Formats: sequence, C-alpha cells, structure tokens
Amino acid sequence: MDGRRKFLSFLSLLLALFFLFVFTWNTSLPNSYNLNSAKRVAEGLELKPHHQTHRIESHASDTPHHPLDPLTVQELNRVRSILSSHALFRASKSYALHSVVLEEPPKSRVLTWREGDPLPPRQASVVARVDGLSHVLTVDLESSRVARVYMGSLLGYPTMTIEDMNTATLTPFLSDEFNRTVVERGVDLKDIACLPISTGWFGKKEEKRRLIKVQCYSMKDTANFYMRPIEGLTVLVDMDANQVVEISDRGKSIPIPKAADTDYRFSALKNAHHKMKPINPISIEQPKGPSFSVQNGHQVKWANWEFHLKPDPRAGVIISLAMFRDPDTGELRNVMYKGMVSELFVPYMDPTDAWYFKTYMDAGEYGFGLQAMPLDPLNDCPRNAHYMDGIFPAGDGRPYVRSNMVCVFESYAGDVGWRHSESPITGLEIREVRPKVTLVVRMAASVANYDYIIDWEFQTDGLIRIKVGLSGILMVKGTPYVNMNQVPNQEDLYGTLLSENVIGVIHDHYITFYLDMDIDGSENSFVKVNLKRQQTSPGESPRRSYLKTVRNVAQTEKDAQIKLKLYDPSEFHVINPNKKTRVGNPTGYKVVPGGTAASILDLEDPPQKRAAFTNNQIWVTPYNKSEVWAGGLFVYQSHGEDTLATWSDRDRPIENRDIVLWYTLGFHHIPCQEDFPIMPTVSSSFALKPVNFFESNPILGISPNFEKDLPVCQATAVSS
Ligand SMILES: *[C@@H]1O[C@H](CO)[C@@H](O)[C@H](O)[C@H]1NC(C)=O
Ligand SMILES: *[C@@H]1O[C@H](CO)[C@@H](O)[C@H](O)[C@H]1NC(C)=O
Ligand SMILES: *[C@@H]1O[C@H](CO)[C@@H](O)[C@H](O)[C@H]1NC(C)=O
Repeated sequence: MDGRRKFLSFLSLLLALFFLFVFTWNTSLPNSYNLNSAKRVAEGLELKPHHQTHRIESHASDTPHHPLDPLTVQELNRVRSILSSHALFRASKSYALHSVVLEEPPKSRVLTWREGDPLPPRQASVVARVDGLSHVLTVDLESSRVARVYMGSLLGYPTMTIEDMNTATLTPFLSDEFNRTVVERGVDLKDIACLPISTGWFGKKEEKRRLIKVQCYSMKDTANFYMRPIEGLTVLVDMDANQVVEISDRGKSIPIPKAADTDYRFSALKNAHHKMKPINPISIEQPKGPSFSVQNGHQVKWANWEFHLKPDPRAGVIISLAMFRDPDTGELRNVMYKGMVSELFVPYMDPTDAWYFKTYMDAGEYGFGLQAMPLDPLNDCPRNAHYMDGIFPAGDGRPYVRSNMVCVFESYAGDVGWRHSESPITGLEIREVRPKVTLVVRMAASVANYDYIIDWEFQTDGLIRIKVGLSGILMVKGTPYVNMNQVPNQEDLYGTLLSENVIGVIHDHYITFYLDMDIDGSENSFVKVNLKRQQTSPGESPRRSYLKTVRNVAQTEKDAQIKLKLYDPSEFHVINPNKKTRVGNPTGYKVVPGGTAASILDLEDPPQKRAAFTNNQIWVTPYNKSEVWAGGLFVYQSHGEDTLATWSDRDRPIENRDIVLWYTLGFHHIPCQEDFPIMPTVSSSFALKPVNFFESNPILGISPNFEKDLPVCQATAVSS
C-alpha cells in the first residue's frame, strides 16, 4: 500500500496534486519564504477570499435540452446498465469502455430543430474493448437497442482509458529486474514517478499487441520530477496482458539531474528571481454583469453570436451551430456547424533508443478532453468567467464530473475595435474610437508534462480567432554534460543544454482543427484567391509591376490541399456561391493563417505517415459523418491507413457542397534556458474572418466607452 501511495500516476492530476502537495513536498523544504516581494504578492492574493471557490456539482439531475447536449450523468448510467446486460458484455471475460459520447443526430435533423421541439432520439456512441477486440456500438437510450457499427480488425486501438494509463505506470514494478535497475541508478523505489508513453508504430514487431512504453523519474526533493529523468530506462508494457515485455537500460552512465531549482510552485520558491518587481493585482470588473448568457447549460449567447458549447473527452471542447445575427437584417445566419480540435501530433527529434518513439497524438491516444484539468479561477480565467463542467465516463462506464473544465468570459485587453481621427488640417475635429471586447471560450489540457491552452475567441465583427498556447514542462533528456564546453558537437545533443545534466529535446507541435463551415447554409465552395504579380507592358505605366487576384474555385479535394507559401500568397475563402451581397459578391469567410510551422520530416517516416494529416496546412473534404478524426478513429498504434490524407486523396468533388475545412497550426520548438523549469506560454493563432459576409462594417453601431458607465477606478499609486 505504501509503495502504491507514494506512487504517482501522473495523468489523474487531481490525485497527483494531492500526493505532491500533501505527502511529498513540505516534509523537506520550509513552507515560508522570507522575500518581501514574494510575500507581498502572496498576501495580496490572499487578502480577498476567492469569489469563485471551486464549485463541485454532482449534475445528478441534469437533463438534455438541445439535440447536441452531451450525455448526462443519468444517460451515462443508463448506457452502462444497458451494456452490462447486453449479451456481448455479459459473455465477456473483461471489457472496458474507451469512449461513450452522444451520437449526434443527423445534421439535417439538428439544423431543422427549433427550441420547444421534442429532442431527436438520444443515442450514445460507444467504443468498447471486449476480450481484446475493439467494438463501435450505438446505444439507443429509449429502446435500449444496441446496434453494432463496427467490430474487428482496423489497425490501431481506441484512445486509452485513464485506467489503462494508471495500470501501465504500475506494471514495471512487477519486474524484479526493473526494481533492481532503478536502485542501481541510485533512486529509491518510493521516490519514483512513471509516465505512460504511447509507442507510435514502427513495424511488425509491435503488431497485434496493445503496447506502451513506461519511463520513470525521480521525484525526490521536487514536484517537478520531469526534470529528473532516469535516462535511457524504457519498459515496454503489454497493456492488455498487464505484463512487462522488455526492459531497455541504456543510460547507466547518465546521472539523475539535480532537484535544486526545479520546483515551480509558488509555495516552494526560495530564491527564484527575488529582484522581480511585483505588479499590483489586476482584474476586469463588469459593474452591470456579463453581457453573455449560457442557457440550458450549453447555449451561449453574446452580442450578435449564438453557439452551442460542450466538453468532449477526445476533442476537448466542441463549438457547434455558431451563428451570427446580421446587424442589418436581424436574421440569424449560419457560420460554422462544428469546430473542434481533431488531432495533435508532437514528434520529438531524437532517433535514439529511449526517444525515437515519442511522437504523440494527444487527442486520439490520450484524450485531449480527458486530460483537461479543472481551470484555476482568477488565474486560468479572469474573475468574470463562467465555468462549465465535463461529464465523462470512466473505463467501467461510471460517469464522473470534471469540474471547471471550460470557462467562458468577456475579454477586454485595452485594444481598439476600430478608430479614426482627423488631422487639424481638415478642419474637422473627429476622434471616433471603439473599444474591442471579445468573448473567449477556454480550456487547458495537461497532457502529462505539456499544457495546451485552447481559446475560441469571438469578436463582435464576426471574426473567430482560434488560439493555442503552449506551456507546462518540457520533456527533457538526461546527459552527463554539465556545460557546453564539454560538448564536442552541439548538433549531436538533439536539443539545448538547459541546466546541468538536462537537455531540452527539439520537437514540433501540430494541432489540426476540424471546421465544418456552413456559410449561410451547407452548400459551400472553397476558393483560393491567389495574388499574382502582373508586369506592365513597356510604356503602359511608370510602374513595372502590381498585384492582382486570381480566383480558383476548388473542384475536388486535391485542389484544396494547400501548403502555405510566403512568396506565392493567397487568401482561402469558404463561400456560399448561392448567396450574394447587394453588390453581387458571394458571402464568405476566410481562414487567416498566423505564425505557424510545417512538418519537414520524411513523408515515409513512420510517425509522419501516421500523422499525414499534417502534410498540408489546409485541406477541404466533403462532409462525411465518419471523417472527423484526422488521424483516424483508432489512432493508438495506427499505421496511417485511415487519415485525412487518405480520405482527401480520393479526390471527391467539393464544389457547391457541404464541405469541411481542416487547418493545422504548427510550432517548431527548439528549447532554450528560459523554458526551464517550466515554460512561459508561447502562443499562436489563426482566424476565421468574414469576407463579404456583411454588407458593410458590422460594428459601426457599437458604442464608445463613457466614464459615467464605468466603476470609479483611478491609478492613484502611479501619481503618488
Ligand atoms: C505540511 O505543511 C503543513 C502546513 O505548513 C503542515 O501542517 C503539515 O504538517 C505538513 N505536512 C507534513 C507531512 O510535514
Ligand atoms: C518492486 O518494488 C515495489 C515498490 O517497493 C514493490 O511493491 C514490488 O513488489 C517490487 N517488485 C518485485 C517484483 O519485487
Ligand atoms: C465516408 O467516410 C468513410 C470513412 O472514410 C468512407 O468509408 C466512405 O466511403 C465515405 N463516404 C463517402 C460518400 O465519401
């Protein structure tokens, strides 16, 4: 029991935090810090009790109100009881439910549903493993009928359950050899923390077994065990048999990096940056309350926007039925039927034994939503935020509540919505400025060491910005080097020496978004608006060249496989060819890439084949209910035969049809010392922006700020 208690199964973070805070840390370091600045900040934070103490709701009596509302606690319990009495499950030796989510009604049904109508039949889509076989089932909640959609042999396995991950991290301890190796490396078995690392897929040897690799760390004297790898020790575990398959130990000569200065917790900081000048507390106040509402749990209304919002165990959050009320006509217009993170791909750039397989697909392997932990009120989201809980099933089907998983808040960063002022030479005294206020939907997933912050930010002018922030802790590699002057060739480090004996390994992050755009209806086209240089004829103009636009309407999927190019620029529009503005332009939205990165791995590299959905930054596919997860339904140990790339290569017609836009946001990460021991957030984004969607600027009518409407608030400290 003691070994187990000391043990940290990282992914159930609540457990982890509990252990770390209560059992591990404060035994060895003083809780107090004698630095004035740190103390003042601490006191400032503690003076005002949190208004939003962590709510815990049981959700036991929740009922669905909308066709897209997620399964409730009662419904999940019902699915569990229907399945447990079903022949397939009754006859089995063992089974686990890897996913139970709402089987969304057909799109046509959802689009015609109106408030007050009866709900379409409630159904659950279930992915189960029964005696070692994967099944996809549909469970009808009213009739209790169970329909088998798929059973059998697709390569790859479903998303791991939390129980899979926990069990995997315990399995190495069944091995005497493992225990001995750890002790030989100078680590006490009670100080060890292990991570379940998906194996990717690298060939036949790995077939027909659900495998995982476990690597371990020393958490002696730090909560940041990630900085103390037992380098080179990799345990291959069979997740179904719960057996150690193989132990590889290639790091005997590599010391465990020191614990000093690795802890990042406010309560544990001793000397860190004590010359840092504190800033005073800051917060947004809304004296008249927020301007948004969340009706029936999931229906968000703000300014001219309306959308449905729900947590999802795989995608994180799903935004559905995003609609904008036209400021000219008052008509509610469709923009996006569904938007979500479809998959992530995080390859590390180190081909050696303990690293080559680190090529995570965080949504399909780990469950991006399952890894979204409760948000921290006042710090993850401002004081004016509203929180939404996730209701997910455990592996045995029992529902649990992931509280505060998503937050919604109005944001004012002091930015300008639009402005113009006149110079005195015109004789006009004009200064017209409008503040920019937005609505943000936020979640944060902590996939082991890494943290991803996903924002869907809605603007009053119809723009949607989708932002990804990366923070958390690097996955680092132990090394004998303590200084760069010992390193013969920096290129052979596979990264950057961050601290003594610690290398931050180079890696990439790709986040692929599924965006089912429905601009004024489902029949849309994808148009590449290419900027071309036109040379003038001799004598035609003092100019030698200018730019003009050439519009190409994509006919089939291959026309819409887009690699971004700085010197061959284009805009990418999703238009409704059947709906024109007053002056005859088709209504549309464009996807506006921001800072991003593309994978330059060999296309035949096994991880890149599995993640072929990152081979282009933009793809467009015809809507297909089954094509939602860019890496395929079963991503775990997949071979890459069922990805967005294979679907798109069918080259189906996409003109004037219901189409889905896919966008991949990428980052190359060459670690630097500032990323140690925890990374300051790095962000990038892209936008969905109206293009001839409105007749004119849709935010002419918003009001400027007036002093009389705002709370009394002066920067007294500055002037005194
Ligand atoms: C941890 O710190 C708290 C508060 O300082 C103290 O009450 C508690 O006894 C400590 N726990 C251990 C295990 O030392
Ligand atoms: C390995 O060590 C753990 C923790 O001390 C212990 O629970 C387990 O029984 C050991 N395994 C073997 C095979 O001795
Ligand atoms: C829909 O997607 C599935 C899975 O990729 C595929 O088997 C099927 O052929 C697709 N249907 C159409 C009409 O493209």
